[in-house]
Amino acid sequence: MEALIAVSVARLQKEDYTEAQRAAALGVIFGVDNQLVRDGTYLLAEVDGLLVGCGAWSQRNNRFGSDNVPGKDDGMLNPANDAARIRGFFIHPDWSRRGIGSAILRECEVRAVAAGYRRAELTATLTGIALYLAHNYTIDSRYEIPMAGGVPLPVAPMSKSLIP
Ligand SMILES: CC(C)(COP(=O)(O)OP(=O)(O)OC[C@H]1O[C@@H](n2cnc3c(N)ncnc32)[C@H](O)[C@@H]1OP(=O)(O)O)[C@@H](O)C(=O)NCCC(=O)NCCS
Repeated sequence: MEALIAVSVARLQKEDYTEAQRAAALGVIFGVDNQLVRDGTYLLAEVDGLLVGCGAWSQRNNRFGSDNVPGKDDGMLNPANDAARIRGFFIHPDWSRRGIGSAILRECEVRAVAAGYRRAELTATLTGIALYLAHNYTIDSRYEIPMAGGVPLPVAPMSKSLIP
């Protein structure tokens, strides 16, 4: 998964973020959160045994980032009051624009609804915004995540009702 994330960031984000932004984010903002693996909410897409994509839904408070993200909060959400998190979507560049991100996203939403959630929230990279807009998420705001060396990472919190 770490290798998949690195190649996805290197090739698919290069129009949206500078090399310095991608370098500062890799392994901190962009990386595996093993809590989601342990929770069984990180979904993987494979083709002929090759890992081509990943994406998670989460009942944890944390909104984004790897095991190493500062201020990590793994507290549990309450489906009665909180929105499920959508997180950690990375597709292999050789397999992008083939509907794999969409397939993982739809399955994450199905599982969040089954767990009782009525809304989903995520923090989109500039690269990810188009995927989520295509799935009827709306942009709630925009801000910059501060990273090491004073490098900012512009992102967009987005959300969607999961109940028709
Ligand atoms: C964002 C990402 C996960 C999308 O995955 P994907 O499997 O390529 O997405 P899909 O093929 O399911 O795309 C579905 C729709 O989203 C939109 N979309 C996705 N990527 C797009 C792009 N680069 N430009 C424009 N629209 C895009 C399109 O409407 C697309 O439908 P279409 O291909 O029929 O036009 C992938 O580009 C990626 O891994 N990026 C690098 C890592 C990253 O930034 N992840 C987002 C974290 S929030």
